[in-house]
Amino acid sequence: MLILAMKLLAVWDIQAILSTFLLLQADIRDKDGLEKVFASARFDAVIHFAGLKAVGESVQKPLLYYDHNVVGTINLLEIMAAHGCKKLVFSSSAAVYGSPKNSPCTEDFPLIPHNPYGRTKLMAEEICRDIYHSDPEWSIILLRYFNPVGAHPSGYVGEDPCGTPNNLMPFVQQIAVGRRPSLTIFGNNYATKDGTGVRDYIHVVDLAEGHLFALRKLFDSSSNIGCEAYNLGTGKGTSVLEIVNAFEKASGKKIPLVMGQRRPGDAEILFSSPAKAERELHWKAKYGIAEMCRDLWNWASKHPYGYAASESPKLNGSSR
Ligand code: UD1
Repeated sequence: MLILAMKLLAVWDIQAILSTFLLLQADIRDKDGLEKVFASARFDAVIHFAGLKAVGESVQKPLLYYDHNVVGTINLLEIMAAHGCKKLVFSSSAAVYGSPKNSPCTEDFPLIPHNPYGRTKLMAEEICRDIYHSDPEWSIILLRYFNPVGAHPSGYVGEDPCGTPNNLMPFVQQIAVGRRPSLTIFGNNYATKDGTGVRDYIHVVDLAEGHLFALRKLFDSSSNIGCEAYNLGTGKGTSVLEIVNAFEKASGKKIPLVMGQRRPGDAEILFSSPAKAERELHWKAKYGIAEMCRDLWNWASKHPYGYAASESPKLNGSSR
């Protein structure tokens, strides 16, 4: 696993980055490996992206998730402290909110995750808050991602899920390139504009830029941020049908739909208030769902089988 800011590749020219970045690899569960990384160079700050993120898998294999996401974070914080590196940007998730009663969701909403994945993110956040209270030299920004979608506009960097995609748009993308026959809509009887679930989709480039603004804030000598959480979202709610329609428009591909049952644990409506990030980090999402779908299709049409060099066999089935 990488502890370097690999997702920032989405922001800059890839060749230029690759020629200037030093790439060191270590598993965050391996303290000796982390120690070697920290002994090899001086780090001023860390952006901690490493972790597992599939909700369903976290229910099946909770210990694996606690090991990677919680133990791994503790290891990283220990090594950082030992090397005097006390600035951290942590990848958290909207999953820490669970299913809030209303949206837009602000950072002070109750934190009631309802799956092991969300709990690992909340535990890591709590560990960060405790470490700051024990040593105010730390400054930590917790970024709560809403629903990242899209790819780098170059078409060279995109999501390539292993196995059946867990999330909506990677699934839709595989239908568009002919790898899957249809999309099952998980419930069309919600109390929403068209009956389907509403989420806050955010372009991955906006999300990546949020990390740069967070880093800038950590190095802003006029204020010690302490340990603060920020939502990274657009503040706009979009239904499943709306984003699928936007993707059809961007790709010119028809996405066959099957109306199915609600997915257990799904919130009806969940979107962010990004006001705190706008006010304090001076970050604001620039892209809408049309750009997310355009860039997702650009990536998918150039890489229908992801990063694999050769085509894989046709996959079976519609979404779960
Ligand atoms: C999921 C995770 C959440 C994580 C987020 C971002 C679950 C329960 N939650 O959120 O913890 O922070 O991804 O990575 O997995 N949908 C369909 N058909 C599909 C797939 C999805 O109708 O085949 C619908 C869902 O019901 C939902 C919307 O599409 O309304 C978005 O789903 P998804 O992409 O899985 O994200 P979330 O459930 O919001």
